[in-house]
Amino acid sequence: MKNILSMSQLSNQEVQDFITSALEFKKGRKSTIGKDKFAVNMFFENSTRTKSSFQVAEMKLGMQQIVFDAAKSSTTKGESLYDTARTLESVGANLAVIRHSEDEYYNQLLNRNLGIPIINAGDGAGQHPSQSLLDLMTIYEHYGRLDGLKVAIIGDLSHSRVAHSDAEILTQLGSSVYFGGLNSWYTSEFQAMGPHKAVDDLCREMDVVMLLRVQHERLSTEENQNFSKEDYFEKYGLDMRRVNLMKKDAMIMHPAPVNRGVEIADEIVECDKSYIFKQMINGTFIRMAMIESVLKENN
Ligand code: CP
Repeated sequence: MKNILSMSQLSNQEVQDFITSALEFKKGRKSTIGKDKFAVNMFFENSTRTKSSFQVAEMKLGMQQIVFDAAKSSTTKGESLYDTARTLESVGANLAVIRHSEDEYYNQLLNRNLGIPIINAGDGAGQHPSQSLLDLMTIYEHYGRLDGLKVAIIGDLSHSRVAHSDAEILTQLGSSVYFGGLNSWYTSEFQAMGPHKAVDDLCREMDVVMLLRVQHERLSTEENQNFSKEDYFEKYGLDMRRVNLMKKDAMIMHPAPVNRGVEIADEIVECDKSYIFKQMINGTFIRMAMIESVLKENN
């Protein structure tokens, strides 16, 4: 495929192909498909994991990088996203990895003269395909399948591109999704995909319990003023009592960044059931698979 923008564009076979390729990279397969090619990572929102793992993935594939700092770029002088991307293509970029606060920002770039592929590293509250694929890879490594599983997504659903991406693709793959957290975050799009349950019940019944951070940067002033960390943790947070309710083989996942003591207790982040740092390890390999795929297609 030319671009990777949304999980909704991927078939089940394409998801499986990305996971197979990423697992090969994890086992040591080498590829120099990126040799003599330049990547530009255009992050208009902050990132630790996604940006650094795209950087490492590009380097492992032999690519070079054009340094781009959104805060110091000419976008601050009013240059559009399209003109910025066209400029970076003109100076030599062969791939643009873009994170932006606007939902579906990529529509500004499609069907124009941009000649390089785009990988979406997160658009607003829309989609986060590389996170979703690494989540699927991590689940697949543990269970050996992606169908017939029960997966709970608990937290700030409505603002979460991870919740949107994962809920959609897990449903497409034949797993069942359930939701937890504030009722006001359980909007109609999630209601159409699966039921909302109390966190204790989700812990007892699920194969995967995925926690999400509360995205204070996307909440209103009033919502932030009314938010109590202690109250949230008591009602929806994952603590040892709730972990002890979980099935023996169940996985705890979180896309991170984690707010310890809010959606998850400090001692749970690295407990035996937690796959949070394993997800990050897989992130580099899945991003290698994604980059290799778009470079092959655009060669
Ligand atoms: N999970 C994730 O997207 O983390 P970053 O915001 O640090 O990239």
